[in-house]
Amino acid sequence: MKPSRILVTAALPYANGPIHIGHLVEYIQTDIWVRFQKLRGQRCIYICADDTHGTAIMISAKKRGVTEEEFIEAMHVEHQRDFAAFEIEFDHYGSTNSLENRELCEEFWTAVNDAGLVTEKAVEQLYDPIARTPLADRFVRGKCPVCQAEEQYGDHCESCLSTYTPVELIDPRSVLSGAPTELRTHPHKFIQLEKLHDFLEGWTQNEDHLQPEVANYLRGHFLGEAGNPENPRKELMDWDVTRPPEYFGFEIPDFPGNYWYVWFDAPIGYVAATKQWCHQHGEKLENWWRDPATKIHHFIGKDITYFHALFWPGMLKTAGFNLPEKVHIHGFLTVDGTKMSKSKGTFVKASTYLNHLDPAYMRYYYSTKLGARLDDLDLNLDEFVNKVNSDLVGKVVNLASRTARFATDTGLSGMYPEDGGLFATGVEIGDEIAAAYEMCDYNRAMRLIMDLADRANPYVEAQAPWNLRKDPAQADRLQDVCTVALNLFRQIAVYLAPVLPRLARQTGELLSEPIQSWDQAKQPLLGTPVQPFQHMLQRLEKKDVEAMINESKEMEEGPTSTFQDSNAPLQEEPLCEEISFDDVMKVDLRVARVVQAEDVPDARKLLKLTLSLGGDERRTVFAGIKAAADPEQLVGRLVVLAANLAPRKMKFGISEGMILAAGPGGKDVFILGVDDGAQPGQRVH
Ligand code: MSP
Ligand code: ZN
Repeated sequence: MKPSRILVTAALPYANGPIHIGHLVEYIQTDIWVRFQKLRGQRCIYICADDTHGTAIMISAKKRGVTEEEFIEAMHVEHQRDFAAFEIEFDHYGSTNSLENRELCEEFWTAVNDAGLVTEKAVEQLYDPIARTPLADRFVRGKCPVCQAEEQYGDHCESCLSTYTPVELIDPRSVLSGAPTELRTHPHKFIQLEKLHDFLEGWTQNEDHLQPEVANYLRGHFLGEAGNPENPRKELMDWDVTRPPEYFGFEIPDFPGNYWYVWFDAPIGYVAATKQWCHQHGEKLENWWRDPATKIHHFIGKDITYFHALFWPGMLKTAGFNLPEKVHIHGFLTVDGTKMSKSKGTFVKASTYLNHLDPAYMRYYYSTKLGARLDDLDLNLDEFVNKVNSDLVGKVVNLASRTARFATDTGLSGMYPEDGGLFATGVEIGDEIAAAYEMCDYNRAMRLIMDLADRANPYVEAQAPWNLRKDPAQADRLQDVCTVALNLFRQIAVYLAPVLPRLARQTGELLSEPIQSWDQAKQPLLGTPVQPFQHMLQRLEKKDVEAMINESKEMEEGPTSTFQDSNAPLQEEPLCEEISFDDVMKVDLRVARVVQAEDVPDARKLLKLTLSLGGDERRTVFAGIKAAADPEQLVGRLVVLAANLAPRKMKFGISEGMILAAGPGGKDVFILGVDDGAQPGQRVH
């Protein structure tokens, strides 16, 4: 039975960066599925939005010196432009930073509170002492506490897909400054997912909403099995859904000064964006999110499985919204067998791709790679070139380009000629192709379609319309041959329409009837004019791929690259001329501990420091740091001393060296410190 409505979403891309070819796997996969549904006559909408909250965006905005709102607005425009260029056609593209989303967050929040799911606990959070900000999720990297994989995020591991809290990460470091993180404590609110255990177990395990490997994985890792001693039932972890300042997000009405964690408001953004669409189209949100006759399909990457398969169904259930009919999960893109890399030039932004290549190539190539399972998919650049050229240019477009011009004068025949059963085979295979699209097995759909092209091309070769054309007595035969070839071509264009919408449009123009429905592949088109053949798809040139890779090559970003420092200090005091290694080694720099620090009352700038070089070695140093440092705070800390500087007689006594500090002077003096563990007396090399 046909559902009355289908609502489809792709994950909401973070607004803190541009769309890249990894993202496109998902948005293209989803777009194809939606176009397929629409072509089949389903009432289907494709909803998406920018995911705009969180620390990342706050920092990106700061770095550029703009407000968060300005920053996300610019990204919103950029993302939509990129998606449109790839023919990814959303019915609505919203933003999680909307009034609708804030209101819906309040509604979900009330529901989870009323259901008794919320609890408050003090949380130790990691803090970056150098960047001076609490660190969440993606800003902490360290070793996964579950599988020990290195360089994993603060909230989840890409290697074993576990989720955890940043505090559990082993050897956590801040991605912002590279500094080891500190712990700070703050109250947070949690959703007790365990209270929904039975519901989530039933929903994930028994109702066919997830691919089988996802269901198994969830059972193994998060749910366990009651009564199975091998894998006993596990408790679901409480879910931390609030963040202390500074945070860019929605402040929580009954928890002032705190914000909903971005992953609380992001999925609610699906509903909020639908609400905006409803408003623009005179529709009721109830019909799309609370009526069981509407089927909701989420498309996501495997990295965000937990949020969509456990957390989100729990929220929807509690707040009385429709549960997803299906969560379709895909794998990750690799390029030539490895992770996308900026230094290799394989981290290709959508906008860079567009400078060199036709988006149709990528839509087709990804389709040949996407199956119903969640294996990673590899963009092999050589295969990419070969496949596009041999399949699309060589097999598909060739059918039209070799025949259309011979039919421009006559149009298509009035009756469908004998074709040895070719068209009928295409009709028959249509259901299999449709089934493959339906279950997201695009790879199979593409193979079935190319099989049709492989049958059609020998027909054209055998009939050789280019020879028939030379003999005026064969004019009718020529028209018939072209009618067959162009109908086989059109049948293929209908089947490919979800993947290659432009080709479908061009085919509609060529044969004077737009392609609008799947069933058009079932009936040959007869008696229509054939328009002059317009070029449809260029060959894919290897050199253009190379140019794209070259343009994408960047120095790999270091951990401090998120900082944009001013060039004023270097301009005010340019670098000195070059010196030799020996010159450097002449200065004997030592670690020293401040054991005493006194004000020198008669001196405007000076403090008198007594420094220990270990044992009984002491030095007295007069340092011009009065305005910058509090003597009491100095006692005990380690500094760096230029220890072999000739003693200098000053008005208040003899200064036996100099401690190292940066800054122009006055209040702006910054004493160089030494990492913990150093010993007074150690030489600084
Ligand atoms: N903002 C969250 C999603 C919130 S949904 C309520 C997010 N954003 S993202 O920009 O990082 O990713 C958006 C989608 O693109 C995710 O589903 C993610 O899995 C997918 N991909 C991002 N990089 C990818 C690849 N390299 N390969 C395939 N898909 C990838 O996660
Ligand atoms: Zn892991």
